[in-house]
Amino acid sequence: MIEDLIKRRRSVFPVQYIDKEIAKADIERILEAANWAPSHRKTEPWRFKVLQGESQEKLGLFLSLKYMETESKPKEIKVKKLIENPKKAGAIIAICMQRDPNESVPEWEEIAATAMAVQNMWLCATEMGIGSYWSSPGLVKYMDEFFELATGEKCLGFFYMGYYEGDIPEATRGAIEDKVVWG
Ligand SMILES: Cc1cc2nc3c(=O)[nH]c(=O)nc-3n(C[C@H](O)[C@H](O)[C@H](O)COP(=O)(O)O)c2cc1C
Repeated sequence: MIEDLIKRRRSVFPVQYIDKEIAKADIERILEAANWAPSHRKTEPWRFKVLQGESQEKLGLFLSLKYMETESKPKEIKVKKLIENPKKAGAIIAICMQRDPNESVPEWEEIAATAMAVQNMWLCATEMGIGSYWSSPGLVKYMDEFFELATGEKCLGFFYMGYYEGDIPEATRGAIEDKVVWG
């Protein structure tokens, strides 16, 4: 049942990842799922940049240097995490949004459509036994220095992926009844 998959989807963090590569064909399957998200006026604003191997390491170095450069009192533990976490992933997909040049829909709709594409990837990865999560550090605002971004293209974070060991984290939600008004 689709509801079981939806409830099984968890944020699985790099600390749980094992050293196992994710095959290109599997990443392509996840990206194909992303591509079936809905978008207002069919703008299909989601853009992805797949990082594997050496580029993961480069991302970690970039983020840690940027953090040290922009933080008045950088914390050593955070620097270490920024360097180490990307290396632990089986692959990282940078989540980007391409603003429609005609601005035919509001920006929030483009971000919403991109987020729906990410949910598709997340559910697909869950089904495939790949742990994943959306990382959105404040440092994403500097990603135009790392990637060549097109005009109107923004980076909204990183989709970390990795095969993992151990149980998926426990999760709870507040009751839906508290979030719904009927009639
Ligand atoms: C747009 C978005 C951005 C997120 N950014 C981060 C992040 O930067 N760091 C983090 O640890 N988790 C991040 N998360 C994951 C949430 O913390 C996680 O989804 C939430 O705790 C619920 O847990 P679950 O995904 O296992 O159900 C993000 C989730 C979303 C939807």
